Amino acid sequence: MSTTVIRNGLVVTASDETAADVLIDGEQVVALAASGSTVAQGWTADTVLDATGRYVIPGGVDAHTHMELPFGGTFASDTFETGTRAAAWGGTTTIIDFAVQASAASRADGRAGSLREGLDAWHAKAEGECAIDYAFHMIMADVNEGSLKEMGTLVGEGITSFKLFMAYPGVFYSDDGKILRALQKGAETGGLIMMHAENGIAIDVLVEQALERGNTDPRYHGVVRHALLEAEATSRAIKLAQVAGAPIYIVHLSAAEALDELTRARDQGINAFAETCPQYLYLSTDDLARPGFEGAKYVCSTPLRPVDHQAALWRGLRTGDLSVVSTDHCPFCFKGQKELGVGDFSKIPNGLPGVETRMDLLHQAVLDGHIGRRRWIEIACATPARMFGLYPRKGTIAPGSDADVVIYDPAAVQVMSAQTHHMNVDYSCYEGRSITGRAETVLSRGRVIVDRGEYLGAKGHGRFLRRDTCQYLR
Ligand code: URP
Ligand code: ZN
Ligand code: ZN
Repeated sequence: MSTTVIRNGLVVTASDETAADVLIDGEQVVALAASGSTVAQGWTADTVLDATGRYVIPGGVDAHTHMELPFGGTFASDTFETGTRAAAWGGTTTIIDFAVQASAASRADGRAGSLREGLDAWHAKAEGECAIDYAFHMIMADVNEGSLKEMGTLVGEGITSFKLFMAYPGVFYSDDGKILRALQKGAETGGLIMMHAENGIAIDVLVEQALERGNTDPRYHGVVRHALLEAEATSRAIKLAQVAGAPIYIVHLSAAEALDELTRARDQGINAFAETCPQYLYLSTDDLARPGFEGAKYVCSTPLRPVDHQAALWRGLRTGDLSVVSTDHCPFCFKGQKELGVGDFSKIPNGLPGVETRMDLLHQAVLDGHIGRRRWIEIACATPARMFGLYPRKGTIAPGSDADVVIYDPAAVQVMSAQTHHMNVDYSCYEGRSITGRAETVLSRGRVIVDRGEYLGAKGHGRFLRRDTCQYLR
């Protein structure tokens, strides 16, 4: 087993900032010691990495990605190979992707698949393909007696969280009764329910009415997916969780009104958690309304909101009501994929690329004064690891942690562009935007996989992670 020492960097974790050297033996961090101390100077290693003037941070943990997701008659354009490679370039060393239970509508026999079949299919897609470590949540497309029973088995296999949808009737949608049953089962088994909180039944009425009026442009995606329909669903989901005696995690929260509901519940001591995503912090309905069909590049659900929602989300990240920033990485190329919705915004595949850019956009937020440096690491590394049962193996730099470490240059200036990113998608949501900060060297379990502009990783290096249950509830 080879040893590595990272010297002279500022080690930043969710709790500390220390001028320290980091000693790695094989796949794990084994020690930290003050740079220049007798202890650190006594260390010898096969590889010495100099981090002078750099931060040494834990690899990012992106708790919400969709590689190869089937959606709207097509598939998300990043495979596990291309998507995890892009993640590595951006300083993310763990993803939690969503395995999908086949819905009744997607199958020839008109019956939903089992969770087991869905999970096996996702294992088959990912195994031997990933550049970084990966885990799975399970999307439940049909809550029934069988799938409820399977939840307990899956928790035992390290799939400890389950996503339900209050949106997408006829596809992934669950009604309140199904949601309540899944929450009850979650409370019993330790499985955390993650909720896509939008009132899909009401949204479908508004979609129909918009199309009847001839309102077919991408910007109407944002109009029909009304902020109040996110707020209503968020409140309903939290109340159903309360009735079930279960915690709940709201995914991709975008509306200030939904955040109000979450905050109110948390103020009452309810175990309601939520993530937001960089697109809601940096993009808005102005992007959805770009001329021609350009707005399709910004179609995702929950949708982008008017720009004034951003201040509320930043505040939620500072107060702690928003716990995590994930990407909801779900890329579709503009050419041939987003274009499926020309003349009908409801046919535009929902989702944006982002797995490569999250760490940098959040570092920019530090520079802009929205959050502090340790909070950056907390929301992007430590809390997602804790929330989903991976801490302290992932999400921090400490003896015994996996050596997923990033040497981060806080002064590197980059101009974001589809010409230079590594995601398998033909546009960047942030084309031409200049930001400061970049992952310079990235280690995954002790192996250097990116080094100063060179990719040194390999597909198959990334391993499946069996997760523990949510660590905020124990
Ligand atoms: O637009 C999105 N978010 N696409 C991915 C599926 C989901 O709901 O997370
Ligand atoms: Zn969703
Ligand atoms: Zn998603």
